[in-house]
Amino acid sequence: MFLTREQERMLNGEYGWAVAKAMAIIVKTGEVLGASRLVEISHAHVSGVSYTNILDPGLDFVRRLFLSGGRARVYTTINPGCVDYSGLSSLIDGSFNEKQAVIDESLIRMGFKPVFTCIPYYHRPPSQGEFLAWGESSAIAVANSYYGASSNREGGPLALAAALTGYTYYAGLHIPENRVARVVVRVDPSASRNPGALGLWIGENIREIPLLKGFNPPLWDLKIMLAASAASGSHAFIAVEKITPRGFYKVDPLEKVEVEWRDLEKYIGLEPSGGSVLGYLGCPHLHPWEFHLVYEYVKRRGRLPGRNRLLLTIPLEVYERYRDKVLYLRSLGVDVAAGTCPVVSRLTRRFDHLVTNSGKAVFYLSKQLKINYYLTETRRVLEIVYA
Ligand code: F3S
Repeated sequence: MFLTREQERMLNGEYGWAVAKAMAIIVKTGEVLGASRLVEISHAHVSGVSYTNILDPGLDFVRRLFLSGGRARVYTTINPGCVDYSGLSSLIDGSFNEKQAVIDESLIRMGFKPVFTCIPYYHRPPSQGEFLAWGESSAIAVANSYYGASSNREGGPLALAAALTGYTYYAGLHIPENRVARVVVRVDPSASRNPGALGLWIGENIREIPLLKGFNPPLWDLKIMLAASAASGSHAFIAVEKITPRGFYKVDPLEKVEVEWRDLEKYIGLEPSGGSVLGYLGCPHLHPWEFHLVYEYVKRRGRLPGRNRLLLTIPLEVYERYRDKVLYLRSLGVDVAAGTCPVVSRLTRRFDHLVTNSGKAVFYLSKQLKINYYLTETRRVLEIVYA
């Protein structure tokens, strides 16, 4: 692989242990993937920062990088941690606050922006053609499919390494010739109604890069579909007609398929008819626009009845901006957690049913919590918790 003189010096340790370690990770990965060179990135997004995911070995690694002088060389944001940063949630377990604080302190002192969200494009929407190194599968898919910026599906350590060096390997989706849609998927209007289930279906059934036709949602529903497809499959990029910038990809179809409502039924689960319900919205985190929709609904309906609970997960900044509204929701029994989510943290209590609009949440939580689930539209989630 060709390395510039600066990159060679980084690799040889002239910028310190942390940068050398980071550069070695990038070069090694690039060599395995056949990259001929590195490229400069404009934004790194580091996932795998939750203590309940990385535990003590991960904490020690991050701490060591910081203590040995590792510093962000590009704009870098971080994914949710395992604690509720508003301190108001009674559903998110606070037992790991101290461990998470050690991780957070190291990351912040390395110069990473403490956004604690899986929608980093809310803070800095990427421009078409930018090289990114993002480490949150749902956000990566949005960067590629919606913004036409390019990121490979980096693991947490690779995104961290890119943050400390400012480079990533030139391979995969960074190369325009690799962004070719091979399967044209015509989405029936009946299937568009449930983006979470549609995403789970795509992840499980389509291996190549698909081009979706007939699916033209707002960003909020698109991110739900992309998160689900990245969870049940390995999609980092799905071309969506009329949404993905046309110059970003080519189409060379080998196959055409159609997806309709009956294909999605197996992903939807059963509507609860008794027992306690956890309604969950915010996987990926709620954008302010979605937060306000839910806020208006709850304001109209008032206090949550019975044993059901509603959990919303939002970026820390949305909590800071709309603190009054969060407090109002709390007063009506709605649990709002900032900078975290139930997949990367632990819940304080058990429920009989999970009702959500998120295919990604169903994918992980149905196994983690061993819970019945119902995957439906946002409005239906709200109606069920208020039933
Ligand atoms: Fe975000 Fe947690 Fe879902 S990190 S994408 S809310 S699993």
